[in-house]
Amino acid sequence: MIQNRERWGSKLGFILAAAGSAVGLGNIWKFPYIAGENGGAAFVFVYLICIGIIGFPVLISEILIGRTTQKNPVGAFAMLANSKLWRSVGFLGVIAGFMILSFYSVIGGWTIGYVIETLRGSLSDFHNPAEAGILFNQLSGSVLWTISYHTIFFGFTMFIVMRGVQGGIERSSKIMMPILLSILIILMIRGITLEGASKGLAFLWVPDWSKINGQSILIALGHAFFTLSLGMGAMLTYGSYMSKKDSVVNAAAQVVFLDTLIALMAGVAIFTAVFASGLDPAAGPGLIFKTLPAVFASMTGGTFFALLFFLLLAIAALTSAISLLEVVVAYFVDEKEWTRKQAVLIFGGSIYLLGIPSALSFNLMSDLTLYGKTFFDIVDFIASNVLLPFGGLMIAIFVGWVWSRTEVMNAVKEGAESLFESYPWFEGLWFIFLKFIAPVLITVVLLNSLGIV
Ligand code: PHE
Repeated sequence: MIQNRERWGSKLGFILAAAGSAVGLGNIWKFPYIAGENGGAAFVFVYLICIGIIGFPVLISEILIGRTTQKNPVGAFAMLANSKLWRSVGFLGVIAGFMILSFYSVIGGWTIGYVIETLRGSLSDFHNPAEAGILFNQLSGSVLWTISYHTIFFGFTMFIVMRGVQGGIERSSKIMMPILLSILIILMIRGITLEGASKGLAFLWVPDWSKINGQSILIALGHAFFTLSLGMGAMLTYGSYMSKKDSVVNAAAQVVFLDTLIALMAGVAIFTAVFASGLDPAAGPGLIFKTLPAVFASMTGGTFFALLFFLLLAIAALTSAISLLEVVVAYFVDEKEWTRKQAVLIFGGSIYLLGIPSALSFNLMSDLTLYGKTFFDIVDFIASNVLLPFGGLMIAIFVGWVWSRTEVMNAVKEGAESLFESYPWFEGLWFIFLKFIAPVLITVVLLNSLGIV
């Protein structure tokens, strides 16, 4: 089996695909609004620390497990620690992939829908976010609209994954990631050159520490997982197609760098525009779909920039969605010996169906709630706030405590000997983060999600 397994065509292929997974709705939709709600610069600072001390060490570990075993999450844990417990950790990752993709595709669908609405001119005559909000409620409130775009988005995702690791995921990432970066640069320049942009920049760079409390630190920590696609085996699966000649540490550093850079660039593009129009940066999840369309409508050439922006979101969402589907597909291909096509059609199809009640959570089923949460909210909560931190915790514990240190070091040094020779302190620091800091902090996040602390 192993000799026929697919691989990335090049090191750059891995970096772009993994960065594509990391850079998603989390960076362009969620990061700006949570930063906006939690006071801007001070939150950004806390977030950067979380990425450095938790995100980066866990990302190295996750890619390493994949690269060493050349397997999907379940097969990987089974190979390194043949116990029920560790197999089920891998399995929970597959389930998390299943769940996240189901609702991710609904929002991904909205982004494509907004590209089309922009082209149809529906976004051009708003005078304020309230008016843009009315359109948003109308669109997301329509069963036909939400289900149609969920279908289209999912269709693209299945199409790419069906074409395989090199021919589908790698090739599409090599096309989409440069487009994404170019669009973001254009939008950032547009934002910075608006009159009044400096207030937006100040919001992002001048910290107001009074806004930081336990809750905002936990939000930053939780987001560090989501944004780096950690804790459910996406990075593990992508790592499993990586060559042993390439350094896992360098690759992880490049992915962290790109993910962070793009989140910050999105923050600059969005907040300069929001402040220049004198609007509220703390508008919450509606920031992108309600506040921004009003900003675009008031700008010369706004339709063009709106089009670019929603295209950017759609691309970012798509490159993440394919990594979520790939986790599920890799499991059935490796462990159950299904063909890629069968796995994509059958499991892609089931994830698509699970997405339907999420799409309906904004219309038909909006009143159907449990503890005040709709179906969409529940799936999102269980996957993003419980399964991802739990998976991340187990990965840190596994590499820090369970896997033998000599084996870990042999594995991580493959392709990276010179790095560990030049920076001998790196090993010790990585282990301190994995063994102590990450488990303690992640446990607090998890208990907090569960309402225990
Ligand atoms: N990292 C993606 C984002 O920021 C989301 C994601 C989570 C993708 C987990 C894959 C796995 O939007």
